[in-house]
Amino acid sequence: MSIETNKIALITGVTGQDGSYLTELLLSKGYIVHGLIRRASTFNTERIEPVYQDPHALHRNLFLHYGDLSDASNLNQLIKNIKPDEIYNLGAQSHVKVSFEIPEYTANVDALGTLRLLDAVRESGVNSKIYQAGSSEMFGDVLEKPQKETTPFNPVSPYAASKVFSHHLCKIYRDGYGMFICNGILFNHESPRRGKTFVTRKITTGIANILSGKQDKIYLGNLDAKRDWGYAKEYVEAMWLMLQQEKPGDYVVATGETHSIKEFLEEAFGLLKISDWQKYVGVDPKYYRPVEVDYLLGDYSKAKKELGWEPKVKFKDLVKIMLDEDLKSVGLSIDKYLKKNE
Ligand code: NAP
Ligand code: GDD
Repeated sequence: MSIETNKIALITGVTGQDGSYLTELLLSKGYIVHGLIRRASTFNTERIEPVYQDPHALHRNLFLHYGDLSDASNLNQLIKNIKPDEIYNLGAQSHVKVSFEIPEYTANVDALGTLRLLDAVRESGVNSKIYQAGSSEMFGDVLEKPQKETTPFNPVSPYAASKVFSHHLCKIYRDGYGMFICNGILFNHESPRRGKTFVTRKITTGIANILSGKQDKIYLGNLDAKRDWGYAKEYVEAMWLMLQQEKPGDYVVATGETHSIKEFLEEAFGLLKISDWQKYVGVDPKYYRPVEVDYLLGDYSKAKKELGWEPKVKFKDLVKIMLDEDLKSVGLSIDKYLKKNE
């Protein structure tokens, strides 16, 4: 563990996949971390359980606050009280398909939520550096291959349109008010902590369930779309690096490889030497989107040059990491399964 700082960070979306990895990274660097959590009737802090600290503990460096990106007065108070050196705006309704079902809510949180946060910082006079969690979804029906920082956005979902709004707003506040704001344009990133309704995790949990007799088939939508999938744990390092630069900027974070959902299935089942995977997969049109993003492939050369960031975990390793972890939860592993079926 390397202690480098005593800075204060605020993370919205601290309970999410990225929020949990970022919390661990910042704590390991000596930060005091404040996280915004939503009130829920069930526990939503599972992902940050490993670093959770009892509110009565004497020496704490992780503090959780109830709040919501739809609640401006709450954000104003938090910024004034915490006075963060760095803010990571990761909170979002992050499911693209769901954004077609709840477009107004998605825009309220993913677009206006950013506006509320930026205004809270501006009005407080606190000199926070801000990271905005932008997305490769903003490229939508792509106008260039591969996609880089200068590729025009062409969003095709309420989620992506909301993220484009936030991206532009961040630039406007950066240029107009001289605020230090970085837009990350992160391509899909996954991990064993990925929500179970995103396609990669749906596949790896589905396989674990099939092998343990809990499920017969995995029902999916479009198998032909292509995504540039990286490892979330590495992507949060890029977020942090952006805020350590002298000048704020916008950065694509990606692996430079693209694969279809079909290839993900082939790779995952292939690790278990199951070649007739089609027998375990059904297509249900209910998972189709009204408009689909067919192809994403990121060019991360700016992040490599300016941040010194490069992905180490690529597609094949990522599938293995995720599958092995989900198999563990049903008492299996890739090796154990292969030995059993020799
Ligand atoms: P995630 O696992 O879905 O986490 C989203 C987080 O936002 C959760 O902590 C969630 O809280 C919180 N949240 C939802 N609605 C909120 C609201 N109204 N107010 C405050 N917080 C709210 O997403 P992720 O994969 O970690 O992604 C993090 C961010 O990066 C998101 O903004 C996402 O859109 C963006 N992004 C993700 C990817 C990717 O491939 N993962 C790529 C590009 C951009 P609960 O736990 O209570 O639900
Ligand atoms: N979720 C889901 N469920 N997707 C499916 C399914 C299914 O059953 N079947 C096929 N897919 C296809 C989708 O149509 C899409 O083309 C692809 O799998 C990936 O879907 P998701 O895993 O839901 O991710 P996403 O690419 O739509 O969005 C994720 O990545 C974005 C970055 O590009 C999310 O994390 C967004 O928040 C993020 O911004």
